[in-house]
Amino acid sequence: MNYRHAFHVGNHADVLKHAILLYCLDALKKKPAPFAVLDTHAGRGLYDFLSDEAVRSPEWQDGIARLWNWPDPPPLIARYIEAVRAFNADGDLRTYPGSPALVTSNLRDDDVLMACELHPEEHAALKRALPRKANVQVHARDGWQALSALLPPAQKRGLVLIDPPYEEPDELQRAARALGPVLKRFGHGVYLWWRPLKSESLLKSVDAEARAQGAKETLRADLWVDAVTPEGRLMGSSCFLINPPFGLREALQEALPFLAEALTKGRPGWRLV
Ligand SMILES: C[S@@+](CC[C@H](N)C(=O)[O-])C[C@H]1O[C@@H](n2cnc3c(N)ncnc32)[C@H](O)[C@@H]1O
Repeated sequence: MNYRHAFHVGNHADVLKHAILLYCLDALKKKPAPFAVLDTHAGRGLYDFLSDEAVRSPEWQDGIARLWNWPDPPPLIARYIEAVRAFNADGDLRTYPGSPALVTSNLRDDDVLMACELHPEEHAALKRALPRKANVQVHARDGWQALSALLPPAQKRGLVLIDPPYEEPDELQRAARALGPVLKRFGHGVYLWWRPLKSESLLKSVDAEARAQGAKETLRADLWVDAVTPEGRLMGSSCFLINPPFGLREALQEALPFLAEALTKGRPGWRLV
């Protein structure tokens, strides 16, 4: 496990993933019944843009930083910026909340976060970053194994974020196959599965696999900031949702062209299917 999210934090891919994550959380909170969030690959929770990693690899400068003072972004993006601003009270962009931090800051007292992080240092940092509360559970366990061990949640409703580092060559296929047994036990959960956009044919085949595994209601949102190539730097990402919340498609229809323009590095684009 060599991947460190601190080298990529706040980039175009985090912008897309975290804006969608917040929309899903807001949608779950429209009903009073408590919900659970399983974050299978949580990362360290809070990131400092002055850290050694972020200084050496300042991807955030072409991500969240470009949006920070944007005058009138679409609502999906305005909500995301507001959530990041809550971690930067003095107005200067220095701290970035990863997925478990965004989730905990948007939970009600009865809602629960189950965050899994296997890397010992990232896990220790995550424990320090998140509030010590009974409804915030940090596990040093394998996120793939957690899909079967922790689902369905006691609350019977909720969100599953699947955001692995894709260090293993077969991790995309593994994620698609992992959905089958999980959907049998927690078929009405909302799933947000993040994928790197490198090969369209590979993503098409794992989308087909996910559908074969039982994903029926789906929405896929892709954003790229420059020409996508199988090798080299990540220029785009793809979020695959199962049981997407009402209104998300329309919100993305407005936000994706905005993001492509705002975060462009040359030949940007977007896709919503
Ligand atoms: C892409 S990062 C997560 C970013 C985070 N979800 C966010 O949006 O802020 C992936 C994380 O998964 C961790 N990881 C790698 N393999 C894992 C496994 N099998 N189970 C749980 N965590 C794992 C890595 O240490 C890394 O911190």
